[in-house]
Amino acid sequence: MDLVVVSNRVARAKANEPMTGGLAAALLPVVEKSGAIWVGSSGRVRDNVSKDSFAEIESLGAGALALLDLPAAHYGGYYEGFANSALWPALHSRTDLIKVSQDDYQSYREVNAFMARALMRFNKPSSAFWIQDYHFLTLGADMRELGVRNPLGFFLHTPWPSRRVIAGVPHHRDLVESMLAYDLIGFQTEDDCENFATYLQTELGLEVEGGLVSSHFGTSRIAVFPIGIDVDGFAAQAQRASSHPDVSRLRRSLHGERLAIGVDRVDYSKGLVNRISAFDRLFDIQPSLKRSVSLLQIATPSRGGIEAYSNLQDELSRQVTDVNGRHGEVDWTPIRYLSKGFSQTVLAGFYRAAQVGVVTPLHDGMNLVAKEYVAAQNPIDPGVLVLSKFAGAANELDAALLVNPHDIDGMARTLAVALSMPSTERRMRWEAMMTKLRAGTIHNWFAGFIDALEATRCSVGPSLLPSVVRPLRLASGPVLSGGRMRDPVHFAPRPMAN
Ligand code: F6P
Repeated sequence: MDLVVVSNRVARAKANEPMTGGLAAALLPVVEKSGAIWVGSSGRVRDNVSKDSFAEIESLGAGALALLDLPAAHYGGYYEGFANSALWPALHSRTDLIKVSQDDYQSYREVNAFMARALMRFNKPSSAFWIQDYHFLTLGADMRELGVRNPLGFFLHTPWPSRRVIAGVPHHRDLVESMLAYDLIGFQTEDDCENFATYLQTELGLEVEGGLVSSHFGTSRIAVFPIGIDVDGFAAQAQRASSHPDVSRLRRSLHGERLAIGVDRVDYSKGLVNRISAFDRLFDIQPSLKRSVSLLQIATPSRGGIEAYSNLQDELSRQVTDVNGRHGEVDWTPIRYLSKGFSQTVLAGFYRAAQVGVVTPLHDGMNLVAKEYVAAQNPIDPGVLVLSKFAGAANELDAALLVNPHDIDGMARTLAVALSMPSTERRMRWEAMMTKLRAGTIHNWFAGFIDALEATRCSVGPSLLPSVVRPLRLASGPVLSGGRMRDPVHFAPRPMAN
């Protein structure tokens, strides 16, 4: 099988470049090894694009990276518009922030259709396509329209919300019906997968049984594939990074102070305002911690052209200035706030230098920072992870200190517990989390999805799937009324294309 991986953002194999975003950083090591072609946006736009407008095709490990210039007329409506002002807030259950226009939706569809035409260059009888994330919900349907019969997989890195929330996007029906062009649709958590199944049943009137759903496209499987990290690779990177100049400077600056660390894109889903408030509260309830603890918050600017994001950036700057002004001393800054990105190597070293990792999103698909923080720890003296129960990672990392990111007082109290946790308990929790991380690495995730994608074209039952894949178990039930009924199409797997 010749695998083609498609995502909006891609990563390049330069360990010292700042990384934006979990998806690209997570995929890089596995795509490199797999020999796949990774297709994505070049980050540039052009007026006269053609389907052959690949800016660059360069080698990437055993495979290749193919970067595409996107159509200038539609890029804004696609990326800042529909993808990040309608879908992103909806997928993170922030219906209050949904901004949508017909023009933006049109642009989203145009860019998806454009990508579909561009992908034809890599369409061979032996090709299978694996499409990533909410930027390309309708790409599979566009590819089918162009006659592609090859296996098409899709993985959603964000949460999938409840049906009433996604219904806040006016084009929800169109989007989900298009998604059924994918043979395999993967989610981060059981909750996401169940929400999707419920949508199919109630809004589209489709029957979902054993994770299988039939539509006019054929049969799609929906299943859960929690994304992981390269645990041992990241741990080794963290150990090596101790001697990196930036990491040494950080350690030298501490003068015996303990460090908590947060690393996030500036995004309202990340719970940054509540996190800073929790530290504010911590210094109120435990003034003895002043001068002995600080938070290093790396807040990488993101999607700055969107009002909700630029407003948040302003709000955070004001809030940090206020907290530092009230609690700070001439020789101590409670919140070290950095508006920039760092390379994976430097971040790995920073995580290892911090006694507490603070990952408190309001809602997150997985959150790989949580996993990276754990993997980076010194096994003899590991730090403590304080983790939102609303991050997908909380399903596996239940040995972290789990918090409700809306409960400022509760978070402040938990931070105090984390800072005073004895080493035996820290080691016990860390070992439990490492066991989970090792059971679900990025390598397992990648291989598990590909195996399941191949299996969708053979008449295998769920029992033949690899153990990392957990097909959704839904009770079989009658087709629900209320949603729009479709002509029933029976399960007839499409033949494997050579
Ligand atoms: O699924 C969400 C995601 O793709 C993450 O993997 C990544 O953190 C983020 O979105 C990147 O967003 P952008 O490409 O807009 O910076």
